[in-house]
Amino acid sequence: MDRLQHSLARCRDRRLAAILDSAGRAAFAAGEVLRRKYDTPLKINHKGRIDLVTEADLASEQAVLKVLQRDHPGIAVLAEESAPVTEKTAISGPLWVIDPLDGTTNFAHAFPWFAVSIGYLEDGECRAGVIYNPVSEEFFCAAAGAGAWLNGRPIRVSRTNSLEQALLATGFPYSVVEKGDEVAKVVEVLRAMLPKAQGIRRAGAAALDLAYVACGRLDGFWEINLKPWDTAAGIALLKEAGGLATDFAGGDFSPFVPQLLASNSLLHQAIRQVINSP
Ligand code: IPD
Ligand code: CA
Ligand code: CA
Repeated sequence: MDRLQHSLARCRDRRLAAILDSAGRAAFAAGEVLRRKYDTPLKINHKGRIDLVTEADLASEQAVLKVLQRDHPGIAVLAEESAPVTEKTAISGPLWVIDPLDGTTNFAHAFPWFAVSIGYLEDGECRAGVIYNPVSEEFFCAAAGAGAWLNGRPIRVSRTNSLEQALLATGFPYSVVEKGDEVAKVVEVLRAMLPKAQGIRRAGAAALDLAYVACGRLDGFWEINLKPWDTAAGIALLKEAGGLATDFAGGDFSPFVPQLLASNSLLHQAIRQVINSP
């Protein structure tokens, strides 16, 4: 718990500190569930042909909800496994946005790269977030105007300003199995970016991709068709760490927008140019 207390001590906004405190405790509880279930036989169901949901996703979500709903019964919840996005999803007012297991495919294959992600929005704006990797024990958190931290230490985006020196990440949406034109677009951008960047990773957990941009290990990240729970917490981190998130046209990003380009801000234009004219 030390790393949470360290971050809380640096957050002067009492209300957001209370939000972070609950989100942090919820993420640790869920991380414990994931650690217990990791690398053991699991019940796995399919939401789509390649889109899985395991008993670990469901148990982790219950662990998160138990803490958040006890601490803040009045705050609405958008959680991946129990409350899908609908037209009625509250974009106004306070809202928790929860991915109980980001990186389910990795988890199901015992590939140790996944996280719990809990974002807090007010009127659609990402105001706070926590991302917890229970394998590496890295706990990222941020609160608007107060900073972003990794295990209690302040984090900042990188200063890389040329694509040639940039380590980038991307992701492939589940929708590629249904939409041939999406495969073509994803591959086209990848083909154009590969010779320009120093390296490109596809590790399989969008929340961690964003946390890694926020702490400077990655210089940029892009993906299409992400869901609000993939990005809500990571965007809060990125903003507080000095990064930039937009759609591919350069317009404001919100977790309800289907295109995301996140960067250290210095490289934003260069990455955007390749995405838009591959
Ligand atoms: C997925 C991961 C992956 C990204 C997919 C997401 P899930 O989330 O973040 O990296 O490429 O688009 O849906 O299903 O593991 O929670
Ligand atoms: Ca996810
Ligand atoms: Ca998930």
